[in-house]
Amino acid sequence: MKAGFCLFCLAALLMLTNINSVLYAADKLSAQEEKKIRSLISKMSLEEKAGLLHGNSKFYVEAVPRLGIPELALSDGPHGVRAEINRDNWNYAGWTNDSSTYFPTGTALAASWNPDLARLRGEVLGEEARFRGKDILLGPGVNIIRSPLCGRNFEYMSEDPYLTAQMTTAYIRGLQSRDVAACVKHYLANNQETDRGSVDVYMSDRALHEIYLPAFKAAVQEAGTYSIMTAYNKFRGLWCAEHPYLLDSLMRQELGFDGIFVSDWNGTHSTLASAKAGLDLEMGTDKPYSEYYFAQPLIDAVRKGELPESLVDRKVAGILSLMMKLKIFDPAKRFEGSFNTPEHQQATYRSAAESIVLLKNDKGVLPLDATKIKSLAVIGDNATRKQSFGGQSSEIKALYEVTPLEGLKNRAKGRFEIRFAQGYEKSQRPSNRPDWALIDEAAALAAQCDAAVVMAGLNHDYDTESRDKPDMALPYGQLELIRAVVKANPNTVVVIIAGSAVDMAGFNYRVPGLLWAWYNGMEGGNALADVLLGEVNPSGKMPFSLPFCLDQSNAHALGEFPGRNRKVDYFDDIFVGYRWFDTYGIAPLYPFGHGLSYTQFEYSESRADKEEWGMNEKLRLSLVLSNTGRFDGAEVVQLYVSDPESELPRPQKELKAFQKVFLKAGESRELVFELPISDLAYYNDIKREWQLEPGTIKCLLGSSSRDIRREISIKVK
Ligand code: BGC
Repeated sequence: MKAGFCLFCLAALLMLTNINSVLYAADKLSAQEEKKIRSLISKMSLEEKAGLLHGNSKFYVEAVPRLGIPELALSDGPHGVRAEINRDNWNYAGWTNDSSTYFPTGTALAASWNPDLARLRGEVLGEEARFRGKDILLGPGVNIIRSPLCGRNFEYMSEDPYLTAQMTTAYIRGLQSRDVAACVKHYLANNQETDRGSVDVYMSDRALHEIYLPAFKAAVQEAGTYSIMTAYNKFRGLWCAEHPYLLDSLMRQELGFDGIFVSDWNGTHSTLASAKAGLDLEMGTDKPYSEYYFAQPLIDAVRKGELPESLVDRKVAGILSLMMKLKIFDPAKRFEGSFNTPEHQQATYRSAAESIVLLKNDKGVLPLDATKIKSLAVIGDNATRKQSFGGQSSEIKALYEVTPLEGLKNRAKGRFEIRFAQGYEKSQRPSNRPDWALIDEAAALAAQCDAAVVMAGLNHDYDTESRDKPDMALPYGQLELIRAVVKANPNTVVVIIAGSAVDMAGFNYRVPGLLWAWYNGMEGGNALADVLLGEVNPSGKMPFSLPFCLDQSNAHALGEFPGRNRKVDYFDDIFVGYRWFDTYGIAPLYPFGHGLSYTQFEYSESRADKEEWGMNEKLRLSLVLSNTGRFDGAEVVQLYVSDPESELPRPQKELKAFQKVFLKAGESRELVFELPISDLAYYNDIKREWQLEPGTIKCLLGSSSRDIRREISIKVK
């Protein structure tokens, strides 16, 4: 009797352990869903299980029709649903119904500093993905911008982990609200494209926790992302796709991730190591798909006893749980989706309009006065270039794309004459040779017109996946072009269309007006024209610092880029972007968070509720923001903290909160910032914990990281 009881207990215990070890998120599924998953797994052959753990084509995972498990469909990418690709090669399938809505790219989104727009984008992308029958959208891309040269900076968001995390969280919430899984990427340290498939990245624990991890952590803990894409590179000697620390200890055990790990395309390197570390889905391989790591070799490993089948079950349960969360087994309840609606297009316009950054506006050269100018010279290849279909995996077959020149023509409505000159020609990269005939023609045109706008910058030959930029220079002789145009007509505005920093020191002081307009989505041209003509008051702020020159920036001055012998040390540590510039007293050309407006904002009456705060309390600060100028407009109030008394050195300031506030001309509003005191902590990598010592902390409220308007000192007990 006694023995019988014990055996029963043991059996019950085993069953319990089994359930929990099979389901990552056992507590988040209903009892019925859990039962269904267990029942499906119990009916599946090992071959069928392995079928769910690898692609059976470029972007699909095998169905199990006899059990009612449909094919799982994945699609790029962060700023639109990519056109359909052939199942077995990278060519486009040539469909005629897959031209989608095209959003401003990642850095543009971050430049809006408006998480509501990130949420809206997520919703729209979710609706379009659903319409196109996609289950997992491969985005957002959240790697930190460490060097101006990284080819994929345009897809990512910012040099700052807090700003990135805020946009990431909102984006994922929006997307997943439409029953489409986010696949936040690329985990971890894919901060360069040079040797991305082999480079080994070394960074301190502090840099990991304070800079490179927070966006992924927020994706998991704040937004509940259903999946994460592992990076191509190595991290501290091991491939990211088979990294027990990154995948299991840190992400699953410590941060509580209960979704699935998807490999980057063809970025798996092993069966046993990857399976044991925690990779769930191998994607991106070529034909024959059955030969890849998570196909026949996985089956063989189980049969040979090298891998427990329970581990395979656990991964299968992860895939099935994701399908449950997306209501794939309950299609009547699933979001239906829509495609290219006017609302979707309007969402891209709003995002574009709020992302444009006014870097400089001397003598009120902007906005252009349509009642005064009779003729406008529009110069540069980017005036007419469509940017959507470029940059590789994030490229979009856009339903339409309004170029800057078209936007200006749309909005000028015949009120003034618009004349175009090519100025420079896009040629093979790298190319810095000026075309003097085109420059002379452009300068002559500028001289004849009342004002000139040079649409300069880069294109996706430079801002692209797979390779980094050779340098920060503006290619194709644009420096010579800009100088010639501004000499011919001092009323010249330069618009930079690019997704990452370029060298502007050679012309910045000569031009009175400078705007940054990104790869700004299908409505980008209209939004830009509205800003140029004052219909929209610019409210974007730079999501990364703009250095004078490359050597000024952290990765190049202090760290390594792109490393040596396929190894890169992040000696720049936590001093990335403005954390580096400000701590070491280096003045960039334009700082992080900078962006002007056609109106002026005044900061006043800033205060904290009290002087001393306990570690477990919520800090509460307030200030009054007033629009004292003549235009309605929006300001991004940025809250940085400075902790000069910490045990370990900290950056001179760190962004901890921000608010984007729209005020009518003459309007004032009280803003309240509330955040847990614990948010002010730093990661002590000697003690391996977040830490904040009692003492004085300065709270800096400003219009940019270098335009601090109010300072409030608080004491932490
Ligand atoms: C990229 C991923 C992308 C995947 C599928 C890879 O080369 O790194 O970001 O989602 O391809 O296109």
